[in-house]
Amino acid sequence: MTTGRLSKALQLTLAVIKPDAIAHPLMSEALHQTILDNNFAIVRCKDLVWRKQDSERFYAEHSDRFFYQRLVEFMSSGPMRAYILAREDAIRHWRDLMGPTKVFQARYTSPASIRARFGLTDTRNTTHGSDSIESALREIHFFFPDFNVEQWIEKEEPFFR
Ligand code: TYD
Ligand code: MG
Repeated sequence: MTTGRLSKALQLTLAVIKPDAIAHPLMSEALHQTILDNNFAIVRCKDLVWRKQDSERFYAEHSDRFFYQRLVEFMSSGPMRAYILAREDAIRHWRDLMGPTKVFQARYTSPASIRARFGLTDTRNTTHGSDSIESALREIHFFFPDFNVEQWIEKEEPFFR
């Protein structure tokens, strides 16, 4: 799959509300509202629970990091909610809204960000967002294997102009 279409004004990203935030209905509701308030179109949304091996596969790039086991256990510890989100510059916008990975850094540098407001620890940091076009394509496919990015962009782009 080429990445060209995602670099256009209309971009897709993969966002996840992690188990720590789903465990608190008011928090997941607030995060859902944040998505809507920031002009994202919700293209797909589903609730799911990962098996440990899903978690290991998704985060394989971190397999030699000190936090890997903790991360893998946490991400398969309960329900989460995955979204495909669309808007102009979606990847960067969602990453900016989340704030830095580490919650204390987020509180210091970006106090209004999602992770600063709701994050509990560096692992239980409420949300995930793709960090590049390549990872958005990989992650959209990981969560929504039947979703065809090229086809969707082709069909919907005129409505976003
Ligand atoms: P990473 O891809 O670096 O962060 P991001 O989610 O902002 O793209 O790390 C993936 C996840 O790993 C992160 O969301 C939470 C966990 N993690 C820790 O538990 N401790 C850490 O020190 C780091 C860097 C990440
Ligand atoms: Mg990352």
